[in-house]
Amino acid sequence: MEKYNVLVVDFGSQYNQLIVRKVRELNVSSILVKVDQINQMIESKEILNHQAIIFSGGPDVVTDDGALRINEKIFDMDIPILGICYGMQLIGEFYGAKLVESKVKEYGSQQINVLNKDNLFKELSAVEDVWMSHGYELQDLSDKLELLATTNDNVIGSIKVKDKNIYGMQFHPEVTDSINGVKMIDNFLTLANVKKDYTMKNYIDEKSKEIVDIVKDKNIICGLSGGVDSTVVAAMLSKILPGQVKCIFVDHGLLRKNEVELVLDSLKDLDLDIKLINAKELFLENLKGVENPEKKRKIIGKLFVDIFDQEAKKIKDAKFLAQGTLYTDIIESGTDTAQTIKSHHNVGGLPEDMEFDLIEPLNVLFKDEVRKLGLELGLPEKLVYRQPFPGPGLAIRIMGEITQEKVDVVKESDFIFREFLEEKGLSKDIWQSFTVLTNTKTVGVKGDERSYEYVLALRAISSIDGMTARAYPIPIDLLCEVSTKITNNTKHINRVVYDITNKPPATVEWE
Ligand code: XMP
Repeated sequence: MEKYNVLVVDFGSQYNQLIVRKVRELNVSSILVKVDQINQMIESKEILNHQAIIFSGGPDVVTDDGALRINEKIFDMDIPILGICYGMQLIGEFYGAKLVESKVKEYGSQQINVLNKDNLFKELSAVEDVWMSHGYELQDLSDKLELLATTNDNVIGSIKVKDKNIYGMQFHPEVTDSINGVKMIDNFLTLANVKKDYTMKNYIDEKSKEIVDIVKDKNIICGLSGGVDSTVVAAMLSKILPGQVKCIFVDHGLLRKNEVELVLDSLKDLDLDIKLINAKELFLENLKGVENPEKKRKIIGKLFVDIFDQEAKKIKDAKFLAQGTLYTDIIESGTDTAQTIKSHHNVGGLPEDMEFDLIEPLNVLFKDEVRKLGLELGLPEKLVYRQPFPGPGLAIRIMGEITQEKVDVVKESDFIFREFLEEKGLSKDIWQSFTVLTNTKTVGVKGDERSYEYVLALRAISSIDGMTARAYPIPIDLLCEVSTKITNNTKHINRVVYDITNKPPATVEWE
């Protein structure tokens, strides 16, 4: 495994990626690692190549059969450890504390009373607001453990293993409701003497070396969608392997209005070797009659690879396929501990018998980090701050069967909505906005005639990385105004609704 300064062990909590993010925001390289892999790394002592370990929270009960466990040799290895929630309970139990089911289950905001301000809580107050989510707690600390903080209900809030750099927090410092949580994580990193040298420039340098070693003198096919991620990948690879990267831009007919021209125009100064493939009919033909969202995604993923395969045959030694897959795409497409939410076209949507080896330089990054990386590579802000656009395109914004007529409706309404938000000065605050053609028809009246046409939904959200999102509060008078514009100028729509759901419980895209 490459060297990351902090390894976060994945015990299954839904906040695990947030721990990684918070550590990276403190300029420390970090990655989430599965328990099995960590346990092997402990056995082989490879773990000592890294500087500190954080045990995440998780849904198991430490004392249950089948609960995820850490290889206990770690406790004799002199490597600093921070255990969060389940992670703290693992540490406490190992050092002789009792684990009991809590009488008072603590979920949500709580206060802790800090008893020792020398280490984890240095420069913090005697009382701190934190976020708790647990049904079990430690009791009866052994003489190997020191109590650092308790909650108002007298639950053990934080511990330290005496004479060792091993700490525990019952609460979640990575969640924003733990007001000074980042400071607490930072205090741990300082206690662990971790190097704070993670910058985008370092990331580019290290990834570049790694990729050059793998690719050598072979060629790379790079799928280009015009979105931020694939553009950053194309720019990065073309820079480090000049002459070895062929970018393929597939027009599957499911792009936004004028997108092809816009993308080609915005990329013209980047000196990329781009081939545009018109595959509109191929995609429409293969998607005919398909209604199931996962099926649509898989078909699209396969068609992309088929096209890349064909193009690769025309290029000598094209052994690699480069994609702008993000960390979030991987998480949402399902991992051992996280459920499949949807198969992102470039992850779960890829066929198993693909002949390429994948190169995914962004697959440990979040969207906002990719934007920083793009700027570091010298890409123009206009390109770096483009809205995300999903690889499967408008296909996942048309509920039910896809037809050319429906594609045209979404294209046109999306264009009107986009222009409108721009004109009203709202675009810069909105992370992503689009229209969705529902599969529902309702009765309306146009002129003096009855109509029976589709309901169109508008979606606009604010977000940082697409993992969570909030419905953007567009003023109601503006929504009414754009609704009129859309029904007047788009065929087959007689009703417009606004999607006011956050993620979770919804996702950003409807399929
Ligand atoms: P969801 O719908 O998963 O969307 O909440 C989160 C972000 O990811 C984009 N998205 C995709 N991007 N391939 C992509 O390249 C995909 O298959 C895909 N599915 C969703 C979505 O537009 C949003 O920005």
